[in-house]
Amino acid sequence: MTSTKREVEVSYDVSNEFFRLWLDERMHYTCGVFERDTDTLEQAQVNKSRILYDYAECSPDKTVLDIGCGWGANLEYMVHRGVKAAHGITLSSAQFEEINARNIPNLRAWCTDYKDFEPAEKYDALVSIEMIDHLCSPEQANQGKAIDIYREYFRKTAQWVKPGACFGFQAILRNRVPRTRADIADLKFTADVIFPGGLNPRLEELVAAVNPYWEIVTLETRRTHYGKTTAEWLRRMRQHEAHIRATYGDQIFDEYDRYLSTCVRAFANHWSSDVQMKLRHIDV
Ligand SMILES: C[S@@+](CC[C@H](N)C(=O)[O-])C[C@H]1O[C@@H](n2cnc3c(N)ncnc32)[C@H](O)[C@@H]1O
Repeated sequence: MTSTKREVEVSYDVSNEFFRLWLDERMHYTCGVFERDTDTLEQAQVNKSRILYDYAECSPDKTVLDIGCGWGANLEYMVHRGVKAAHGITLSSAQFEEINARNIPNLRAWCTDYKDFEPAEKYDALVSIEMIDHLCSPEQANQGKAIDIYREYFRKTAQWVKPGACFGFQAILRNRVPRTRADIADLKFTADVIFPGGLNPRLEELVAAVNPYWEIVTLETRRTHYGKTTAEWLRRMRQHEAHIRATYGDQIFDEYDRYLSTCVRAFANHWSSDVQMKLRHIDV
């Protein structure tokens, strides 16, 4: 079972205005790529989208699907840089409303589970940014089902594309288990309370699961970049502490402070990482 719609809404439906306070202006909720020391969070998010657009070999004549498209930030990037049409799917009603409110030309979104999505036509390219982290629960991973679940995702998505299509893919990774009980408890809190129903994959599980549907053309890990991204989210959120406590309550502020602080330590200590991959459809 993936994160259910209800579980996804725990993660993303606190309030669009809450996330707008501390994410970048377009509301990317994933790892940015800091290419220069001077890069802002906003620039890092544009860099991330640029890399994935290039990995997916997007161009103005192509129609592209973003699987797990959040509030539409990456869809917006693709439309502005140049695609024939940008389609997105999300499981969160609040995100779906935000995408529609932005009213971007050549952009269409659906609020649906990817398992139920049936595209009218095959896509030229795919992008997915940290959506696969919702597909396998900790219980399923303990039962040894992770690779099969990820392989089913890569099988299904491979059916949605034309021959030779490329896929700009990004995922959070789980690397090492922390050493102290307090750190393990913080990671468990993040998984159970902030992102219920999901678990970050291991890199080797993804590498195994893409076969026999996709060839890995390029693979880059982004651990330190996620450390910087989450540190910036935490810094911005703390700037709004009084407002968040007054508007959303102490519990929301305290939980998000604990989660983002844990993320910063997770990337610094190699408990977690992030990967970007360029995948090419295997046609034969
Ligand atoms: C961490 S957010 C990333 C959002 C966006 N890609 C970004 O970069 O900001 C994960 C996204 O995956 C979506 N998602 C999770 N499970 C899904 C499923 N089974 N089907 C479709 N979307 C799903 C969530 O609704 C959310 O939009």
